[in-house]
Amino acid sequence: MIYLDYNATTPIHPKVKEAMLPFLEEKFGNPSCSYALGKEAKRAVETARQQVANFINAQPEEIIFTSGGTESNNTVFKGVLWVLKEKGRHVITTQIEHPSVLNPALFMESLGFEVSLVPPNKDGLIEPEVIKRYLRGDTVLISVMHANNETGTIQPIAEISKIAKEYGIIFHTDAAQSLGKIEVNVEKLGVDLLTIAGHKLYAPKGIGGLYIRKGTPFSPFMHGAGQEIAKRAGTENIAYIVGLGKACEILREKLKGKENLHLAKLRDRLWKGIKDLEVVRFGHPEHCLPNTLFVGFKGLSGEKVLKAMPEICASTGAACHSGQVNLSHVLSAMGVAPELGKGAVRFSVGYPTTEEEVEKAIEIIKETIAKLKS
Ligand SMILES: Cc1ncc(COP(=O)(O)O)c(C=O)c1O
Repeated sequence: MIYLDYNATTPIHPKVKEAMLPFLEEKFGNPSCSYALGKEAKRAVETARQQVANFINAQPEEIIFTSGGTESNNTVFKGVLWVLKEKGRHVITTQIEHPSVLNPALFMESLGFEVSLVPPNKDGLIEPEVIKRYLRGDTVLISVMHANNETGTIQPIAEISKIAKEYGIIFHTDAAQSLGKIEVNVEKLGVDLLTIAGHKLYAPKGIGGLYIRKGTPFSPFMHGAGQEIAKRAGTENIAYIVGLGKACEILREKLKGKENLHLAKLRDRLWKGIKDLEVVRFGHPEHCLPNTLFVGFKGLSGEKVLKAMPEICASTGAACHSGQVNLSHVLSAMGVAPELGKGAVRFSVGYPTTEEEVEKAIEIIKETIAKLKS
């Protein structure tokens, strides 16, 4: 098996697992309890909070732990938006967001909010000038993802957040895909809220975080007891929180050592190896995550391509049912023609990917395409 789907999920880093294990065994205390076992759990949560904060240049009290990217995005749209309702009820987000942003936004429409969905350009880029056209006097929130999960296109977040600040609008970015692959610095990005998803960065599934800049209006999405600075109720998932903290520490070192350049090298090799196969590349040619290669095989279906090479784990960008092509909402928003988008396949490499795996993958892809075309 050659795993080239690191944008879908990542394996747990061995050191993350090692850090987590004691909290699944003897260190089982509840951090709300005042005896030693509880205090130990509380210390572990606070260490993890510091590790996450260090990774994104935030203060630890600006981080809350959640069950993942989906919950963090729901918290922004249901918690933060709700608290802003007296100020205004208009939200700007984009057509290419993950469903965990788009669907809570639509839900808020049913509660009387209005949502504007900004289209990307043909490279999947959200242009700050286009955002400006959607601003209204009652706009209270702008949410634009840092990097798109399909195309890998990196959005000009610092420029967009400047616009938001100028108009006194809260700004959120979903950094589920960018974290661990490129620098994510809340000060440089100028964001008020930022979504973190553990399983995209070598921590387990079911853990995530939300950065909430000090002073940002906030109301919890999860109500209950006073955990997480009264911002997210529920007894803390200690082992997973410890895992997320450790993963952030490990990836911080990797980025400092510029190991992400290695991802780009592998991704570029993969592209070079297959680009003569009547294939187009989707997404922005420069502003792209170092690990992502989203392509369209001309005249073929992405589903069939993947089925014909079961050794390779990758994702498609379209589904075909009864002869009808349903492009992903991202490709549709970019204006990709169904005949071309039908052949979409996303390859995404990760830190464990080796050069040998990439060479082997090129060989398999070439053979498969030749077979399907003959
Ligand atoms: C951009 C983006 N946001 C949010 C999520 C959801 O995160 P989680 O799976 O942790 O709920 C994903 C996961 O695919 C994602 O790619």
